[in-house]
Amino acid sequence: MNGMKIFVLTGAGVSAESGLGTFRDKDGVWTKYDLSEVATPEGFARNPALVRDFYNARRANLAGAAPNAAHVALARLEAGLAARGGELWLCTQNVDDLHEKAGSQRVIHMHGELAVTRCHHCQATRPDTQALTAEAVCAACGRDGGARPHVVWFGETPLFMDAIEDALADADLFVSIGTSGSVYPAAGFVSEARAMGIATCEINLEPSSNAYVFDEKVYGPASETVPAWVERVLDGL
Ligand code: APR
Repeated sequence: MNGMKIFVLTGAGVSAESGLGTFRDKDGVWTKYDLSEVATPEGFARNPALVRDFYNARRANLAGAAPNAAHVALARLEAGLAARGGELWLCTQNVDDLHEKAGSQRVIHMHGELAVTRCHHCQATRPDTQALTAEAVCAACGRDGGARPHVVWFGETPLFMDAIEDALADADLFVSIGTSGSVYPAAGFVSEARAMGIATCEINLEPSSNAYVFDEKVYGPASETVPAWVERVLDGL
């Protein structure tokens, strides 16, 4: 169908084969760190050095990571839909930049971006892949001690929610890729889509916690399942 609009939500599973850890799998990030200490405003207030060390390690990990075939296929889907008068809304829970590195032009980072530093004092943001330090002076407000990652922590409000809700309501198809469906509001998108009569599909390594809500389900490693799914979609337009 030409002019098709697809809303894709991605999670950590789409970057797993690029060597970036997921959160809730065996050996996941939250099995090694207490998220209340490293991914909440209270944790940052209590021990900013621990939080900066946690994100500096993730920045170093990201520096050595490359997009995998799933990221590349989603960039191809964006171009293929646009060429047929359609549209891809790519909304990611991930804070990595692998969708952009794979060529995706429009990526909505609802949980923020690891390679961006935000000033805790004045909220100014700037691209930054260097290590976060307490000594860094904010170019916008001139104060030090405020450097934090531009990442949405637990208890904070996800970004771009108005644009996300509008895009979801306008979609012909909602596809969730590589997410456990554990964290809201992202985990609720499939039910919202279903309530609006939008077709839904889950592409994941294994059934997520809200797998029962999806119309279609495709299981296997994203680097295999996503390219095959994109080919099917583009061939069927
Ligand atoms: N291919 C496809 N899916 C995979 C792969 C793979 N190679 N490897 C793992 N997965 C799936 C897992 O089965 C799991 O369902 O990816 C999902 C990862 O789930 P989580 O680790 O919970 O990550 P995510 O759903 O993105 O977490 C959501 O929670 O911690 C917060 O803000 C953080 O954005 C994150 C949010």
